[in-house]
Amino acid sequence: MGRKSNRAKEKKQRRLEERAAMDAVCARVEAANKLEDPLTAFPVFKKYDRNGLNLQIECKRVSALAPSAVEWAYQLTRANMQSLYEQSEWGWKEREKKEEMKDERAWYLLARDADSTPLAFSHFRFDVECSEEVLYCYEVQLESRVRRKGLGKFLIQILQLIANSTQMRKVMLTVFKHNHGAYQFFREALQFEIDETSPSMSGCCGDDCSYEILSRRTKYGEVGGHSHSGGHCGGCCH
Ligand SMILES: CC(C)(COP(=O)(O)OP(=O)(O)OC[C@H]1O[C@@H](n2cnc3c(N)ncnc32)[C@H](O)[C@@H]1OP(=O)(O)O)[C@@H](O)C(=O)NCCC(=O)NCCS
Repeated sequence: MGRKSNRAKEKKQRRLEERAAMDAVCARVEAANKLEDPLTAFPVFKKYDRNGLNLQIECKRVSALAPSAVEWAYQLTRANMQSLYEQSEWGWKEREKKEEMKDERAWYLLARDADSTPLAFSHFRFDVECSEEVLYCYEVQLESRVRRKGLGKFLIQILQLIANSTQMRKVMLTVFKHNHGAYQFFREALQFEIDETSPSMSGCCGDDCSYEILSRRTKYGEVGGHSHSGGHCGGCCH
Protein backbone atom coordinates (compact mmCIF):
# COMPACT_ATOMS: atom_id res chain seq x y z
CA MET A 1 0.00 0.00 0.00
CA GLY A 2 2.72 2.44 1.12
CA ARG A 3 4.95 1.57 -1.82
CA LYS A 4 2.06 1.98 -4.24
CA SER A 5 1.11 5.41 -2.99
CA ASN A 6 4.76 6.45 -3.06
CA ARG A 7 4.94 5.45 -6.70
CA ALA A 8 1.75 7.40 -7.46
CA LYS A 9 3.22 10.43 -5.71
CA GLU A 10 6.44 10.17 -7.68
CA LYS A 11 4.48 9.88 -10.91
CA LYS A 12 2.43 12.94 -10.06
CA GLN A 13 5.58 14.85 -9.10
CA ARG A 14 7.18 13.88 -12.45
CA ARG A 15 4.10 15.05 -14.33
CA LEU A 16 4.17 18.39 -12.51
CA GLU A 17 7.86 18.82 -13.32
CA GLU A 18 7.28 17.97 -16.98
CA ARG A 19 4.43 20.45 -17.19
CA ALA A 20 6.55 23.18 -15.56
CA ALA A 21 9.39 22.45 -18.00
CA MET A 22 7.01 22.67 -20.97
CA ASP A 23 5.58 25.96 -19.65
CA ALA A 24 9.13 27.32 -19.47
CA VAL A 25 9.80 26.22 -23.07
CA CYS A 26 6.62 27.94 -24.30
CA ALA A 27 7.46 31.08 -22.29
CA ARG A 28 10.87 31.36 -24.01
CA VAL A 29 9.28 30.98 -27.46
CA GLU A 30 6.67 33.59 -26.57
CA ALA A 31 9.33 35.99 -25.28
CA ALA A 32 11.35 35.59 -28.51
CA ASN A 33 8.26 36.29 -30.58
CA LYS A 34 7.61 39.49 -28.62
CA LEU A 35 10.97 41.04 -29.55
CA GLU A 36 10.81 44.14 -31.69
CA ASP A 37 14.12 43.43 -33.45
CA PRO A 38 16.25 40.45 -32.38
CA LEU A 39 19.28 42.17 -33.98
CA THR A 40 19.13 45.32 -31.83
CA ALA A 41 21.91 44.07 -29.56
CA PHE A 42 24.15 43.15 -32.53
CA PRO A 43 24.49 46.23 -34.76
CA VAL A 44 27.63 44.87 -36.49
CA PHE A 45 25.48 42.12 -38.01
CA LYS A 46 23.21 44.70 -39.66
CA LYS A 47 25.56 45.13 -42.58
CA TYR A 48 27.52 42.86 -44.86
CA ASP A 49 30.46 44.60 -46.49
CA ARG A 50 32.60 41.85 -48.01
CA ASN A 51 33.53 40.26 -51.33
CA GLY A 52 32.19 43.17 -53.40
CA LEU A 53 28.81 43.29 -51.62
CA ASN A 54 27.65 46.17 -49.48
CA LEU A 55 24.32 45.18 -47.97
CA GLN A 56 22.06 46.23 -45.14
CA ILE A 57 20.47 43.46 -43.11
CA GLU A 58 17.18 43.80 -41.28
CA CYS A 59 15.20 41.41 -39.11
CA LYS A 60 11.43 41.84 -39.08
CA ARG A 61 8.21 40.01 -38.48
CA VAL A 62 6.25 39.37 -41.69
CA SER A 63 3.60 41.86 -40.53
CA ALA A 64 6.24 44.64 -40.66
CA LEU A 65 7.30 43.85 -44.25
CA ALA A 66 5.83 45.48 -47.35
CA PRO A 67 3.67 43.00 -49.32
CA SER A 68 6.02 43.60 -52.31
CA ALA A 69 8.97 42.28 -50.25
CA VAL A 70 7.08 39.10 -49.35
CA GLU A 71 6.07 38.67 -53.00
CA TRP A 72 9.74 39.09 -54.06
CA ALA A 73 10.72 36.44 -51.45
CA TYR A 74 8.09 34.06 -52.84
CA GLN A 75 9.20 34.59 -56.46
CA LEU A 76 12.86 34.01 -55.54
CA THR A 77 11.93 30.84 -53.64
CA ARG A 78 9.94 29.62 -56.64
CA ALA A 79 12.80 30.37 -59.06
CA ASN A 80 15.35 28.59 -56.83
CA MET A 81 13.27 25.72 -55.53
CA GLN A 82 10.29 24.77 -57.72
CA SER A 83 12.10 22.08 -59.72
CA LEU A 84 13.70 20.66 -56.56
CA TYR A 85 10.26 20.39 -54.93
CA GLU A 86 8.89 18.75 -58.06
CA GLN A 87 11.59 16.07 -57.81
CA SER A 88 10.45 15.29 -54.24
CA GLU A 89 7.40 13.56 -52.76
CA TRP A 90 6.02 17.00 -51.81
CA GLY A 91 5.61 18.59 -55.25
CA TRP A 92 5.38 22.37 -55.66
CA LYS A 93 2.22 23.86 -54.09
CA GLU A 94 1.97 27.57 -54.77
CA ARG A 95 -0.94 28.33 -52.45
CA GLU A 96 0.57 26.43 -49.49
CA LYS A 97 4.00 28.01 -49.96
CA LYS A 98 2.48 31.50 -50.11
CA GLU A 99 0.42 30.84 -46.99
CA GLU A 100 3.49 29.51 -45.18
CA MET A 101 5.52 32.59 -46.12
CA LYS A 102 2.75 34.98 -44.99
CA ASP A 103 1.95 33.12 -41.77
CA GLU A 104 1.88 35.58 -38.85
CA ARG A 105 4.59 33.53 -37.04
CA ALA A 106 7.07 34.17 -39.86
CA TRP A 107 10.18 36.27 -39.21
CA TYR A 108 12.44 37.51 -41.99
CA LEU A 109 16.11 38.36 -42.26
CA LEU A 110 16.41 40.48 -45.37
CA ALA A 111 19.59 41.69 -47.12
CA ARG A 112 19.24 44.76 -49.37
CA ASP A 113 21.72 46.71 -51.46
CA ALA A 114 22.24 50.50 -51.37
CA ASP A 115 19.13 51.02 -53.57
CA SER A 116 17.04 48.97 -51.13
CA THR A 117 16.77 46.17 -53.69
CA PRO A 118 16.36 42.89 -51.78
CA LEU A 119 18.94 40.24 -52.74
CA ALA A 120 18.67 37.53 -50.09
CA PHE A 121 16.45 36.45 -47.24
CA SER A 122 15.79 33.86 -44.60
CA HIS A 123 12.31 33.03 -43.31
CA PHE A 124 12.52 31.62 -39.78
CA ARG A 125 10.31 30.99 -36.78
CA PHE A 126 10.67 30.51 -33.05
CA ASP A 127 8.85 27.28 -32.35
CA VAL A 128 8.55 24.16 -30.19
CA GLU A 129 9.73 20.89 -31.75
CA CYS A 130 9.65 17.69 -29.69
CA SER A 131 9.39 19.63 -26.42
CA GLU A 132 12.36 21.84 -27.26
CA GLU A 133 12.43 25.53 -28.12
CA VAL A 134 14.03 25.93 -31.54
CA LEU A 135 14.70 28.47 -34.23
CA TYR A 136 13.39 26.79 -37.40
CA CYS A 137 14.86 28.13 -40.62
CA TYR A 138 12.14 27.67 -43.26
CA GLU A 139 14.10 29.25 -46.10
CA VAL A 140 17.45 30.74 -46.93
CA GLN A 141 17.40 32.04 -50.49
CA LEU A 142 19.90 34.16 -52.40
CA GLU A 143 19.68 35.70 -55.86
CA SER A 144 22.20 33.79 -57.99
CA ARG A 145 24.42 36.88 -58.50
CA VAL A 146 25.21 37.15 -54.78
CA ARG A 147 26.01 33.47 -54.14
CA ARG A 148 29.41 32.10 -53.13
CA LYS A 149 30.38 35.41 -51.50
CA GLY A 150 29.91 34.25 -47.92
CA LEU A 151 26.48 35.86 -47.55
CA GLY A 152 24.56 32.60 -47.00
CA LYS A 153 26.99 31.62 -44.27
CA PHE A 154 26.65 35.07 -42.69
CA LEU A 155 22.82 34.82 -42.62
CA ILE A 156 22.95 31.40 -40.96
CA GLN A 157 25.49 32.73 -38.44
CA ILE A 158 22.99 35.49 -37.62
CA LEU A 159 20.27 32.87 -37.08
CA GLN A 160 22.63 31.01 -34.74
CA LEU A 161 23.30 34.27 -32.86
CA ILE A 162 19.59 35.05 -32.55
CA ALA A 163 18.91 31.47 -31.40
CA ASN A 164 21.57 31.82 -28.70
CA SER A 165 20.40 35.20 -27.53
CA THR A 166 16.77 34.03 -27.22
CA GLN A 167 17.78 30.80 -25.45
CA MET A 168 16.56 28.49 -28.20
CA ARG A 169 18.15 25.01 -28.03
CA LYS A 170 19.00 24.63 -31.70
CA VAL A 171 18.69 25.96 -35.24
CA MET A 172 16.83 23.46 -37.44
CA LEU A 173 16.05 23.22 -41.12
CA THR A 174 14.97 20.79 -43.83
CA VAL A 175 17.11 20.22 -46.90
CA PHE A 176 16.50 18.07 -49.98
CA LYS A 177 19.18 15.42 -50.43
CA HIS A 178 19.16 16.21 -54.17
CA ASN A 179 19.90 19.91 -53.50
CA HIS A 180 23.59 18.98 -53.52
CA GLY A 181 25.01 22.52 -53.20
CA ALA A 182 22.81 23.42 -50.22
CA TYR A 183 23.42 20.01 -48.65
CA GLN A 184 27.19 20.55 -48.81
CA PHE A 185 26.78 24.13 -47.59
CA PHE A 186 24.95 23.04 -44.42
CA ARG A 187 26.63 19.72 -43.68
CA GLU A 188 30.24 20.50 -44.58
CA ALA A 189 30.74 24.26 -44.52
CA LEU A 190 28.40 24.99 -41.58
CA GLN A 191 28.79 21.69 -39.73
CA PHE A 192 25.06 21.03 -39.28
CA GLU A 193 24.26 17.53 -38.04
CA ILE A 194 21.49 15.18 -39.12
CA ASP A 195 18.82 15.82 -36.51
CA GLU A 196 17.54 12.96 -34.37
CA THR A 197 14.06 13.58 -35.83
CA SER A 198 15.24 13.23 -39.44
CA PRO A 199 13.60 10.32 -41.29
CA SER A 200 16.99 8.69 -41.89
CA MET A 201 17.59 8.62 -38.12
CA SER A 202 14.10 7.64 -37.00
CA GLY A 203 13.98 4.88 -39.60
CA CYS A 204 10.35 5.54 -40.47
CA CYS A 205 10.90 6.19 -44.18
CA GLY A 206 14.69 6.10 -44.27
CA ASP A 207 16.11 6.08 -47.75
CA ASP A 208 12.71 6.71 -49.39
CA CYS A 209 12.58 10.25 -48.05
CA SER A 210 14.06 12.89 -50.31
CA TYR A 211 15.01 15.20 -47.44
CA GLU A 212 16.94 15.37 -44.21
CA ILE A 213 16.26 17.47 -41.13
CA LEU A 214 19.49 19.13 -40.02
CA SER A 215 20.30 21.02 -36.85
CA ARG A 216 23.02 22.79 -34.91
CA ARG A 217 22.74 23.14 -31.17
CA THR A 218 23.21 26.44 -29.38
CA LYS A 219 24.95 26.76 -26.03
CA TYR A 220 21.53 26.23 -24.39
CA GLY A 221 20.93 23.01 -26.23
CA GLU A 222 24.19 21.22 -25.73
CA VAL A 223 23.53 17.57 -25.06
CA GLY A 224 23.64 16.90 -21.34
CA GLY A 225 22.45 20.41 -20.57
CA HIS A 226 18.80 19.55 -20.89
CA SER A 227 16.33 16.84 -20.06
CA HIS A 228 14.06 15.91 -22.88
CA SER A 229 10.69 14.64 -21.77
CA GLY A 230 8.85 14.42 -25.03
CA GLY A 231 10.22 11.10 -26.21
CA HIS A 232 10.99 10.52 -29.85
CA CYS A 233 8.88 12.50 -32.28
CA GLY A 234 9.65 10.98 -35.65
CA GLY A 235 10.57 13.33 -38.47
CA CYS A 236 8.09 12.86 -41.26
CA CYS A 237 5.30 10.74 -39.87
CA HIS A 238 3.58 13.31 -37.70
C1 LIG B 1 22.67 27.48 -50.47
C2 LIG B 1 22.94 28.96 -50.37
C3 LIG B 1 22.04 29.56 -49.30
C4 LIG B 1 24.41 29.15 -49.94
O1 LIG B 1 24.70 30.52 -49.77
P1 LIG B 1 26.04 31.17 -50.40
O2 LIG B 1 26.13 32.57 -49.94
O3 LIG B 1 26.05 30.93 -51.86
O4 LIG B 1 27.18 30.27 -49.73
P2 LIG B 1 28.53 30.81 -49.04
O5 LIG B 1 29.26 31.70 -49.99
O6 LIG B 1 28.22 31.37 -47.70
O7 LIG B 1 29.31 29.43 -48.92
C5 LIG B 1 30.04 29.02 -47.80
C6 LIG B 1 30.63 27.66 -48.12
O8 LIG B 1 29.57 26.70 -48.30
C7 LIG B 1 29.92 25.78 -49.34
N1 LIG B 1 28.98 25.94 -50.47
C8 LIG B 1 28.13 26.96 -50.71
N2 LIG B 1 27.44 26.76 -51.84
C9 LIG B 1 27.87 25.59 -52.34
C10 LIG B 1 27.54 24.86 -53.52
N3 LIG B 1 26.61 25.29 -54.40
N4 LIG B 1 28.20 23.70 -53.74
C11 LIG B 1 29.12 23.24 -52.87
N5 LIG B 1 29.48 23.90 -51.73
C12 LIG B 1 28.86 25.06 -51.47
C13 LIG B 1 31.35 26.13 -49.75
O9 LIG B 1 32.22 25.41 -48.91
C14 LIG B 1 31.40 27.62 -49.43
O10 LIG B 1 32.72 28.09 -49.20
P3 LIG B 1 33.59 28.56 -50.49
O11 LIG B 1 32.74 29.43 -51.36
O12 LIG B 1 34.73 29.28 -49.83
O13 LIG B 1 33.98 27.29 -51.17
C15 LIG B 1 22.73 29.69 -51.73
O14 LIG B 1 23.55 29.09 -52.70
C16 LIG B 1 21.31 29.67 -52.26
O15 LIG B 1 20.53 30.58 -51.98
N6 LIG B 1 20.95 28.63 -53.06
C17 LIG B 1 19.64 28.54 -53.69
C18 LIG B 1 18.54 28.30 -52.71
C19 LIG B 1 18.77 27.10 -51.81
O16 LIG B 1 19.05 25.99 -52.27
N7 LIG B 1 18.58 27.33 -50.52
C20 LIG B 1 18.74 26.32 -49.49
C21 LIG B 1 17.46 25.62 -49.28
S1 LIG B 1 17.60 24.41 -47.98
